[in-house]
Amino acid sequence: MSNITQPQNIRIENVSLNFGSTEVLKGVNLDIEAGEFFAFLGPSGSGKSTLLRAVAGFGPTHGGRILIGDQDVTHLPPWKRKVGMVFQNYALWPHMTVRKKRCVWSGTDESIK
Ligand SMILES: Nc1ncnc2c1ncn2[C@@H]1O[C@H](COP(=O)(O)OP(=O)(O)OP(=O)(O)O)[C@@H](O)[C@H]1O
Ligand SMILES: [Mg+2]
Repeated sequence: MSNITQPQNIRIENVSLNFGSTEVLKGVNLDIEAGEFFAFLGPSGSGKSTLLRAVAGFGPTHGGRILIGDQDVTHLPPWKRKVGMVFQNYALWPHMTVRKKRCVWSGTDESIK
């Protein structure tokens, strides 16, 4: 089990982001301790998912920095950040049965490429 990543602090420093003329994140500063149970609360459209995507690397930032542990990950792709994320709008492939999906994920259905 030695390859499991240890919890790290997350530091969000003056992060900003806009979609066109809409400023969604305006100089957000946040420190989350390693192992802390932390929740973003806010009205719909306030930017919770946008900030979470920025931390995981699935969305851009237009200013500021995001640090995980001592590492500045602001410009790292998601697969180099070691952050797990469950998307709010999941992609369940509604046209497929559960059996079909299992086959695709396990690589046992040769008809799906
Ligand atoms: N890809 C995008 N392009 C343009 N605008 C976007 C995009 N993603 C989010 N937005 C806008 O950014 C704002 C923040 O959206 P976000 O999804 O982060 O809110 P939220 O706090 O997670 O809301 P909810 O509680 O409904 O999940 C909203 O005004 C939304 O319309
Ligand atoms: Mg959301």
